[in-house]
Amino acid sequence: MNEVIMNIKKRRSVRSFAGEQITDEELKSVLEAGVYAPSAKNTQNWFFTILQNPQMIDKVNGWIIDEARFVKDEKAQEIASTPNAAIFRRAPTVIIVSGEVADHHARENCACAGQNIMLACESLGLGSCWISYVGFLGNRDTLQLYRSELQLPSGYAPFFGLTIGNKAGQDAAAYPRKKGVTRIFR
Ligand SMILES: Cc1cc2nc3c(=O)[nH]c(=O)nc-3n(C[C@H](O)[C@H](O)[C@H](O)COP(=O)(O)O)c2cc1C
Repeated sequence: MNEVIMNIKKRRSVRSFAGEQITDEELKSVLEAGVYAPSAKNTQNWFFTILQNPQMIDKVNGWIIDEARFVKDEKAQEIASTPNAAIFRRAPTVIIVSGEVADHHARENCACAGQNIMLACESLGLGSCWISYVGFLGNRDTLQLYRSELQLPSGYAPFFGLTIGNKAGQDAAAYPRKKGVTRIFR
């Protein structure tokens, strides 16, 4: 089977990581895959904040727990009431993917980059998972503080996160795929 398609079919969300850090070369490769994503009108309006410092990861984890209090959603409330909720599942590398808030295509652009990164991880034998709760950081005026602490470009906000690390366990098989989601007109 074609290698890219095989990777797409093999990739799973990995939530359990071995302790050791990914190499700088692996990090460089997956980030490069991210920035080669397509973007509407070629704006490339994404920004990647790489966290490999455990204290910094804990700090951002704490911000997300604080912000969860203001999100009217069952899962968010559960996170808010769990003081040490491990949003990032003890992954050694976390990427905060931020985008340009004013551009209505920015989320799609960032999502393309996120998928590129996850597929690149899979092709290198690394595990990854999308973490949507990072988006809580962009919900309120506290964004200004997070933007400044993360040194984001002006007008950008965190959209989601990606956890990355060496896989702790074996790959599970992909979930069965939903049927009836295609229609071909010829
Ligand atoms: C937009 C989006 C948001 C997601 N948010 C989270 C998340 O916050 N935490 C998490 O553990 N997984 C998250 N996931 C991973 C999904 O749960 C996962 O892709 C889905 O269950 C299918 O499993 P698979 O990726 O192994 O095929 C997210 C995936 C997407 C595409």
